[in-house]
Amino acid sequence: MAKRIGVLTSGGDAPGMNAAVRSVTRAALNKGMEVIGIRRGYNGLLNGDYIEMTARTVSGIIQRGGTCLYTARCPEFVKPEGVALGKQKCDELGLDGIVVIGGDGSFRGAADLSAAGIPCIGIPGTIDNDIPCTEYTIGYDTAMNTATEMVDKIRDTTQSHDRCSMVEVMGRNAGYIAINVAIAVGADACITVERDYDLNHIAAKMRKASESGKTHFIIVVAEGVGNTEEIAKKLEVLTGIVVRVSVLGYVQRGGNPTVRDRVIATSMGYHAVELLEKGIGNRIVGLKDDHIYDVDIQEALSMKKPFEDKLYDILEDISL
Ligand code: ADP
Ligand code: F6P
Repeated sequence: MAKRIGVLTSGGDAPGMNAAVRSVTRAALNKGMEVIGIRRGYNGLLNGDYIEMTARTVSGIIQRGGTCLYTARCPEFVKPEGVALGKQKCDELGLDGIVVIGGDGSFRGAADLSAAGIPCIGIPGTIDNDIPCTEYTIGYDTAMNTATEMVDKIRDTTQSHDRCSMVEVMGRNAGYIAINVAIAVGADACITVERDYDLNHIAAKMRKASESGKTHFIIVVAEGVGNTEEIAKKLEVLTGIVVRVSVLGYVQRGGNPTVRDRVIATSMGYHAVELLEKGIGNRIVGLKDDHIYDVDIQEALSMKKPFEDKLYDILEDISL
């Protein structure tokens, strides 16, 4: 039975992490536990950067992007000595468990710390939605909505100038943000690493659409593709249409979380505390068939995430 738990955010931040921290804190306090906020990921654990969390520490943060606990990468924690020091610090602090909000890397740290004797629960927090054990990661919906709003604005000027805009969105190596935003903005094409693309085919479609009166184009590119400027130059040569690149960047990682992010973050945080309360660790909380569930960390890390192939087919068929 956990009596005192820690909570930290690690890796890249994501809108909705605050909602998860708030939920973990209040759920645990409500169950009579004490909560320690560990700042700047695993660094805070190793360097003694903590705060005692109260209900008021997490007041007024559910609507805010970023993370009130700050986040960082901690190279030291990747080494066994770092994990051993982490375990020692948990013992000194009297922690019976930790909730780790982050991505795959952070979960590897959580698995190591669980193996060392401190039960840890992972909550998926990343805008990329690239964690295989869950249908949803905290921040994904907000990032997609932000990107969609940005592309809608880009469309205005693209249309005025009879141009093509190629918009690069985040996602690390994954194209989940890209294909969903492409559908949402009514893009003419979407280029990601998951699906082969043929620039000649895209150019031919654009020329044909031009003949039928279309005057501007939007193409969404996933950052993982890695050479958006080069693709834009090639497309310009193939079509004779001016192609301009916009890289959306970090705007996608900030801003007020959407309802979906707030609700899922709150539900996942609550579930994580329920597990720690029972002394259960080494699990990741996820969404499966639209329900909150939990899975063993090692099993989760060996899973493969299916890709949204059907959305590409739809985009291809309705972008004329
Ligand atoms: P994310 O959690 O978003 O995938 P990172 O991959 O940068 O982000 O990982 C965040 C932190 O998790 C790292 O800085 C490190 O402290 C810890 N971590 C990453 N990989 C491991 C690992 N193999 N073993 C232990 N800790 C790890
Ligand atoms: O994982 C979230 C993410 O924003 C990715 O989409 C992007 O590739 C990466 O983080 C950027 O990370 P950094 O903060 O190191 O620039």
